[in-house]
Amino acid sequence: MRRPLVIGNWKMHTNRDSAVALARSLVPVAREAAAEVVICPPTPWLVAVAESVDRSILGIGAQDCSRFEDGPHTGDVSAAMLVPWCSFVLAGHSERRADNGETDEIIGAKVGGALAHGLRPVLCVGERASERDAGRAAGVVRGQLGGALGNRSRDTVARIDTVTIAYEPAWAIGTSKAATPEDASEMASIIRSWLGNELGGDADAIRVLYGGSVSADNAAAFMDVPELDGLLVGGASLDADAFAAIVGVASAR
Ligand code: PGA
Repeated sequence: MRRPLVIGNWKMHTNRDSAVALARSLVPVAREAAAEVVICPPTPWLVAVAESVDRSILGIGAQDCSRFEDGPHTGDVSAAMLVPWCSFVLAGHSERRADNGETDEIIGAKVGGALAHGLRPVLCVGERASERDAGRAAGVVRGQLGGALGNRSRDTVARIDTVTIAYEPAWAIGTSKAATPEDASEMASIIRSWLGNELGGDADAIRVLYGGSVSADNAAAFMDVPELDGLLVGGASLDADAFAAIVGVASAR
């Protein structure tokens, strides 16, 4: 039985004080929840947020890490640098694929680096609207999974069961047009069968989340999908009440 997981992705929102206040307000929510609760604040606030909450109750994730181990990479933040403050890290969010040209190879390097340092990567996959319209959604997502998880280094293989997959169709992110639960179910099944075929028994522990315009109103419909183990929440995670309601729905699973 996989424990439900709800992740709040704050993207490039909040300031230092509002980030700390929002995180603090979520500690009692996480303490009461049957679901595991994780927030991903902007990188500059990670230290302040991590120091102001009990991380054994409310998990902290980073929104990204460098593909490089260390060295002359101005502006990058390595997986190792995140370890004192985080236990999770997002990889391959569609906004980073679009804004920063991140390829599956780059994302695979980030996943491998995160695993090597004991961070739990959340690999985001999902098709664009044009790819769905062309009937290519399943193929795109399988390609993203293979591209990012194809690295068979010792660390990747040994800790692959700590990976989470978030199915986030790009057209549903920040648009208020969530996927239907039927589409999310179909894609989650495709992801789970890919994981089973490629990773065997190790895939059993891997959680598959849905993300894209999740709200307090539609969370229950996604949590009713048997193939889904939780939710990756963007906009609604900035509202403590809405996020608490979503965590409550996931906990009732
Ligand atoms: P959204 O974002 O909930 O605002 O659509 C989800 C995400 O980008 O992870």
